[in-house]
Amino acid sequence: MKHEDQGGYKTNSLIWQDGKLLLLDQRELPHETRYVECSSPEAVAKAISDMVVRGAPAIGAAAAYGVALGALEACRQESFLDRFLDRIEDAAETLRRSRPTAVNLAWAVERMLRRARSLAGKPPQEIAQALVEEANAIFAEDVRANMEIGRYGAPLVPDRGTILTYCNAGALATAGYGTALGVVRAAQAIGKRVSVIACETRPYLQGARLTTWELQQDGIPVTLITDNAAGYVMKAGLVDMVIVGADRIAANGDVANKIGTYQVAVIAREHSVPFYVAAPTSTIDLETPDGDSIPIEMRSPGEVTHFRGVPIAPEGVAAINPAFDVTPARFIKAIITEVGVLRPPYTSSLRSLQPVKKLREA
Ligand code: MRU
Repeated sequence: MKHEDQGGYKTNSLIWQDGKLLLLDQRELPHETRYVECSSPEAVAKAISDMVVRGAPAIGAAAAYGVALGALEACRQESFLDRFLDRIEDAAETLRRSRPTAVNLAWAVERMLRRARSLAGKPPQEIAQALVEEANAIFAEDVRANMEIGRYGAPLVPDRGTILTYCNAGALATAGYGTALGVVRAAQAIGKRVSVIACETRPYLQGARLTTWELQQDGIPVTLITDNAAGYVMKAGLVDMVIVGADRIAANGDVANKIGTYQVAVIAREHSVPFYVAAPTSTIDLETPDGDSIPIEMRSPGEVTHFRGVPIAPEGVAAINPAFDVTPARFIKAIITEVGVLRPPYTSSLRSLQPVKKLREA
């Protein structure tokens, strides 16, 4: 399928349709718009680890539908019926293991399990239907949260401001609208003239392939730079603020995000450019005390030594491929959430969210 065939769906990262999950294959963007159909939790887990779907809130929503698919499948297969809840727990475990850093994934899977357990003893069909509804709720809440993040973040953006962003924290990385790019969209919607500098984001090129694509469709001016040009543009005074997304925010305000975010934050500090994080409260993990305790996913070295299967380094060279790094809280001017803008000291501003989070997760 090509872009022009997608109509309003062109940036929908996931679609629940006829009891199946359609995932926009983000590996193929921007050249091809193709959906991968998943009808089992295992297929969803594989799509998450293979990066068909990526971005913390998007993989959370996908995993939620994955748990629902496990329940639907168990309803259809006689052999699963007598151990229905066990099958759901197994599906949840497979999904939870698919990627370790973004806490939204574990958060969504836990929420689905709590719903399933609360219905223990009810007919399997009823539980499966309730789980589809719970996944729909997670999806819809994420879109709403992102629009609220935009509403809180837009006033922080100066008119005629240029925002540097890293990776892709847009509609593609979420259920819709985006976190960091949601703030950019909301600023434009209230009449601010904004432009974006997108870092390409080696090795997966989420910035080059996805962020530029999304912004072009919204008519928001975007300029692509290599990751190692971030210092140049900030030193030259071309950047008014940095806004990035997050994969996990620890209780002390340390933020895990795409590998390379940390060096952008350090350069921003050197040049007095304010560095903001935009994320829903589902990305906040009060159980993890600090950045050192966040598990960092190590991906295949082949993603560094090769590009789309073509070698770009001598054969046999050693490479490491950490997918995320941690930006210490002291580099972060504010964290923009759907319930407001959090300021340092983060230990207390994040802790004040505990009752909100509990209420939402009940
Ligand atoms: O490896 P990815 O592409 O899943 O990494 C995504 C990021 O690091 C995003 O910045 C983060 O998930 C926030 S998305 C709103």
